[in-house]
Amino acid sequence: MKTIPNIGPWIGDFEKETVNKAMSDWYENPYYYCELFEKEFAKYHDRKYALMTPNCTSAIHLLMLGLGIQEGDEVIGPECTWIASVAPAFYQKAKVVLCDIDETTWCLDPKSVEKNITNKTKAIVSVNLFGNMANWNELLKISKKYNIPLIEDAAQSLGSTYKGIKSGKFGIGSVFSFHRTKTLTTGEGGMLLIDDDKLYKKCKMFRDHGRNDNDPMYFNSEVGYKYMPNNISASLGYAQFQRLDELVSKKHWILQQYSKRLNVIDDITLNYEPEYVYNSAWITTIVLGRSIQIKKQDFIDKLISKNIMARPFFYPLSSIPALNKRGYIEEEHKLKNPMAYDLSSRTINLPSPLNITEEQIDYICNEIKTILMK
Ligand SMILES: Cc1ncc(COP(=O)(O)O)c(C=O)c1O
Repeated sequence: MKTIPNIGPWIGDFEKETVNKAMSDWYENPYYYCELFEKEFAKYHDRKYALMTPNCTSAIHLLMLGLGIQEGDEVIGPECTWIASVAPAFYQKAKVVLCDIDETTWCLDPKSVEKNITNKTKAIVSVNLFGNMANWNELLKISKKYNIPLIEDAAQSLGSTYKGIKSGKFGIGSVFSFHRTKTLTTGEGGMLLIDDDKLYKKCKMFRDHGRNDNDPMYFNSEVGYKYMPNNISASLGYAQFQRLDELVSKKHWILQQYSKRLNVIDDITLNYEPEYVYNSAWITTIVLGRSIQIKKQDFIDKLISKNIMARPFFYPLSSIPALNKRGYIEEEHKLKNPMAYDLSSRTINLPSPLNITEEQIDYICNEIKTILMK
């Protein structure tokens, strides 16, 4: 079997034609697709405003700038996520407080969040990991009770829903990634969704070197950032967005195919999809139960030796060098956030590229059965 990649997009002729159109229009409205994509993306998620950005990391940074996060503040985030979810808090010299994750959703555990709130907590970043939806009911209650803004990191959950509400509608603002690995891609790209008028204006100003809409030319109000989108990427994003249902359905189909074939194995679980969630399963992920003896890395190595590109779950952030250098102590966090450490040690991302075939999923599942059922 040819190598089966871990992840990848689905770009069709419609996208190529749309990008071609954008390539030949640099005069009439150089932001035509940016504005169109922003408008439709906001409407789809029932949000008032959207700001496209060069990537999701800059969207998170913009939102933190808009919220005024600064030195001395604390920002709560989950132990297990891509570093980008909390990196912008470090840019702002704030302290990142890592909380435990929930065994079933793999997302922020609301109980751990509540334990870690102090009078310095200025934001909570909740990540919908691999398409799974966090416990938004409880997180929204906590946000309201302590009056702390909640940021929804929806980089991995475009297309998921929770109790009928689309991922992207939770909290004061939500962010998306259109990285080449994501369900909807622009190569690199991101989006920030907001409902509040003042916050939107502030984030928009910071996105374009501190310029307000009515500032005279070259008369910037603040020193800002250059997080502007570009029309070529936006045209690709807009075209992909027209096909969103097809892209998300394929991801969901991948999860179902794995689930159908692997449910004969004892003590494993895949992405969580209770009846009130539609899981857009950006990556289908398998948790090996505590009764399974094989080590995570051995399992991954065995799959890779069969040309199946499996990957590890995120390591707890408090265990990686980038954070250890900033004073995060692994042994302390292991005690504080035991579920994150435990889950991370036995969880694996399975290949979930948008071009995967049924035959390839058959092949992968047979190899998994051979490893786990022998
Ligand atoms: C959960 C999460 N947050 C943020 C990001 C950052 O996205 P980007 O690479 O577009 O900056 C990613 C990217 O993989 C992500 O998975």
